Amino acid sequence: MAIKAAILGFGTVGEGVYRTIQSHKKELETLLGKKVEVAAILIQNKQKDRNIEDNVLVTTDYNEIINLSQLDIVVDAIVGKDPAFSYLKKAIERGCHIITANKEMFAHHGKALLALAKEHSVSVGFEATVAGGIPIIQTLRQLLKVNRVQQIQGIVNGTSNFILTEMREKKQSFPEALKLAQEKGFAEADPTNDVEGFDAFYKLMILSRVAFGAEPDWNKVERVGITSITSELIEVANKLDFRFKHVVSIHKDGDRLIGSVRPVLVGNSHPFFHVEGVENAVNVYSDIVGRITLQGPGAGMFPTASAVIEDLVYAGNRNQQDKHLDKPVTDAFPLTNGSLHDFYLLNGVNKRDLSASISITEQVADQTFIVETVHEEILRLIQENSSIRYYPILDGTQTLLNRKKRKTVTV
Ligand code: HSE
Repeated sequence: MAIKAAILGFGTVGEGVYRTIQSHKKELETLLGKKVEVAAILIQNKQKDRNIEDNVLVTTDYNEIINLSQLDIVVDAIVGKDPAFSYLKKAIERGCHIITANKEMFAHHGKALLALAKEHSVSVGFEATVAGGIPIIQTLRQLLKVNRVQQIQGIVNGTSNFILTEMREKKQSFPEALKLAQEKGFAEADPTNDVEGFDAFYKLMILSRVAFGAEPDWNKVERVGITSITSELIEVANKLDFRFKHVVSIHKDGDRLIGSVRPVLVGNSHPFFHVEGVENAVNVYSDIVGRITLQGPGAGMFPTASAVIEDLVYAGNRNQQDKHLDKPVTDAFPLTNGSLHDFYLLNGVNKRDLSASISITEQVADQTFIVETVHEEILRLIQENSSIRYYPILDGTQTLLNRKKRKTVTV
């Protein structure tokens, strides 16, 4: 008998999953010893023309799907917390494995779904929720079991990275670059989620749970998007040989998890410097192996379908089931690098507003300075004047030293 799957949603992700199940029939059958058939697809609008085979139930009514006589796997490719959460709960209760690409829903309800799935002895695949096609979840769950993770940093929103790259390389305006990201199917239905950092925030929470077995207090995580980055600032950074990247970061400080979601500048020795366009990258710093960087396409139809299809094989092959997927909460382990933001680019600030503990390295444009200080001083400054923008510089020391040398030679 075949494995019967239902796909909820037929947008970029849902369609990609459907097409991939068709195009990789043979591989799936070899790996699972059975055919995989898409039994049903949940859609929103009956009027749209879709290229779906006639033997697939295409419906707007989830009850028709959940009451099918055979259903083994439910793939969630819809957007938003509800009704996705209630659909998946019902699927688990019915004994189906679930796979989701829905970041917002999983960040909010992942814990509950994993607990329910454990009760019903089914699996939950969520590789597609973070960093598109990059197998970061399985890497953390399966391949780094003994390593104690110290810090994770990532470029996890393809749309933001695409916009920043287009603005720098092709001198596109922000709205032009966003429009292109939407046309290419990278952006969320409401792109505010991308450009204001919400999408990256949800992904960071999912990563945190997998790597540390816990999440930071959501209200204490700084979340800043890319909307403050103007073409002028990109030009300034370019001249300094830095690039803007939207980076999520999480590490443990004692018992506390410290997370941030914000634009930063990276120097050319940092692995994120060359992560361009819709690419994502995740750095995992852990105690035995050191730094690993995984890089790959972070959004789009087939990268996301790739993550779903790998989860599908995992779910379909019960023999491969790992009983120890939930990593225990790990002890804090001191960071050796990557957490200190010693240099910052400050924008919209006057020299006289800078206290003695913020030392100016260079004025690079009007009201724009590179400074050297500690994070607490920056937070104090922002508290006094919330219109000041700041961008930590990652791995910038060498770039700044080289620049100093070049300037000295010129003079
Ligand atoms: N809108 C998301 C992004 C899609 O741009 O990264 C993939 O999660």
